[in-house]
Amino acid sequence: MTIAACHPLAPLTGDEIKAARRIVFESGQLTIPPDDVRFAYVGLREPPKALVRAYDRGEKVTVDRCLRLVLLLCPEAEVTEVVVSVTRGTVVSWVEVADVRPNLQFEEAMAVINALRANPEWNAALDRRGIVDKSLVQIDPWPAGTFGSDHEKNRRITKALAYLRDAADDNGYARPIEGLFAYVDMGRGTVLEVMDFGVVPIPPMSGSYYPEFNGPLRTDLRPLIISQPEGPSFTVEGNLINWQKWSLRVGMDSIEGLVLHTVGYEDKGRVRPLVYRAAVSEMVVPYGDPGPMHSWKSAFDAGEWGLGRMANSLTLGCDCLGEITYFDDVFADERGRPHTRPNSVCLHEEDYGILWKHLDMTSGRTETRRSRRLVVSSIATVGNYEYGFYWYFYQDGTMQFEVKLTGIMSTMGVADGVGQAHASMVAPGLAAPFHQHLFNVRLDMEVDGPDNAVFEVDAVRSPLGPDNPWGNAFAPVSTLLERELAARRTVDPTRSRSWKVVNRGTRNAVGEPTAYKLVPGSTPTLLADPSSTVGQRATFAAHNLWVTPFAEDERRAGGDYPNQHSGGAGLPEWTAQDRSVVDTDIVLWHSFGVTHIPRPEDWPVMPVEYTGFSLVPFGFFDRNPALDVPPVAGGDAHCHGE
Ligand code: NI
Repeated sequence: MTIAACHPLAPLTGDEIKAARRIVFESGQLTIPPDDVRFAYVGLREPPKALVRAYDRGEKVTVDRCLRLVLLLCPEAEVTEVVVSVTRGTVVSWVEVADVRPNLQFEEAMAVINALRANPEWNAALDRRGIVDKSLVQIDPWPAGTFGSDHEKNRRITKALAYLRDAADDNGYARPIEGLFAYVDMGRGTVLEVMDFGVVPIPPMSGSYYPEFNGPLRTDLRPLIISQPEGPSFTVEGNLINWQKWSLRVGMDSIEGLVLHTVGYEDKGRVRPLVYRAAVSEMVVPYGDPGPMHSWKSAFDAGEWGLGRMANSLTLGCDCLGEITYFDDVFADERGRPHTRPNSVCLHEEDYGILWKHLDMTSGRTETRRSRRLVVSSIATVGNYEYGFYWYFYQDGTMQFEVKLTGIMSTMGVADGVGQAHASMVAPGLAAPFHQHLFNVRLDMEVDGPDNAVFEVDAVRSPLGPDNPWGNAFAPVSTLLERELAARRTVDPTRSRSWKVVNRGTRNAVGEPTAYKLVPGSTPTLLADPSSTVGQRATFAAHNLWVTPFAEDERRAGGDYPNQHSGGAGLPEWTAQDRSVVDTDIVLWHSFGVTHIPRPEDWPVMPVEYTGFSLVPFGFFDRNPALDVPPVAGGDAHCHGE
């Protein structure tokens, strides 16, 4: 099988995945039968940046396509990390890693459900709750976390929660089977212990969000049609997107989901680099109820499940509206076989209101420009929740990341009249525990080149005195973040705090170094106690900003294997080295998200909640870079001219 020559950052092909699988099986290094091997991760082992840059400059380079694989040797809790070259047909490295757990496996999750359905103690607990038709019990295997239980030792386990549906397609989360969960060995598919904390009445109400149960439906919505009769304004070549002055490559990683590469902006005839790579590095959903059923819930939906593994095939007119271009992605299943997921990434343009405007009061002349943005998006379904990941590119050089949170809340049943200190009542007998959704995005920056530095910029009141007699003065105060420990930072909206990524080797028209600034939202940090198990496993969420020098293997904010990890991995471990982050190849890690105090209006399905951040040019351009956006052709005369 020949492997076609392609861009070094091109997405994996089915042939490459097949070749990697064959190399593993023919390596002679497997110690167990091939049928017991699971492919927990298969992804591109990215080539060195220098090679990618040389390729993009048109230099002749040899592209050695390598894949990184995480093999799970069932049923144990050990993995083997393998790198293979499909160009050369060889194993590049083969490293056994003891006592780590990769992401949970879907095939094993099904075995967990079947094991519980056949388990007498589990069924006895359902009998105590008067559940007759056990086929209507929905079982959700959850990542178990780390709590010092003997069940955790040397095993890959799950804690399984249960819900009662009133039909096969009912919303089970309306009727949690409270007080009951089970420890199950995922590797062996055996029930370890059924925990029953006592019967709580199953909530009485259905929680269907289907139209047939929520009528009459409104009748006053008239069609809204997005029409681009000449097609979209972008071009796509392989995974390379060009739109207006932006260029970027798009891909999908099974853990991180949507990945952007080599984001650049054309200015005066050359593409100026901005971000080498951008992706969600980890996320966590810690729950704030201290009871035995919910205190252990803290899902790392990237590292414990996989945002790319859970990506939806998107639907025209529903997920994306208008003139849509879709990308498929090719992924490996748990047996290492390739599959194509159609339409997993959506690309389109949106009108975004006004870009800029001024009415000259003297002459009466008005100039108005419409803003248009490019949208690259994907949506992952992780159990009960949906996460939409949206990258936006604007004509003024701004790029933005937005997460749209929707889906169904994780619920708990409560006895009538029992007040909840750590959960909101959302329906009779039904509560939703307080929780957070905290994301970390890794931004491998290259503002005008690889060597960057980061300044924290606060707007600060100037002291009263002879220079400030009226007390009105304030000014930005910039502080260079010199080393990793000092670069662990937290938002401060009272000071309009932002972080500026600066290239001190290039200057703009006013003699300042060129820069982009990271503008955070008003975002929480982790509310769990730092000494708690989630506090130690999700330390990345304890600060909003981290800065590290680029290191190839530092990819995931909570470490490569957060599942059942005891904590301390990832950013806290790396940054403890306190390396210099000045005028070098740096990576920004931004943690942000929402604290979700559930509302009745979030039930039974949540209207979208938004969180994210922007990267805004700050002296990167010499003036407003969107002056050359033309007036709308055929628009009303008042858009342009007198
Ligand atoms: Ni939520």
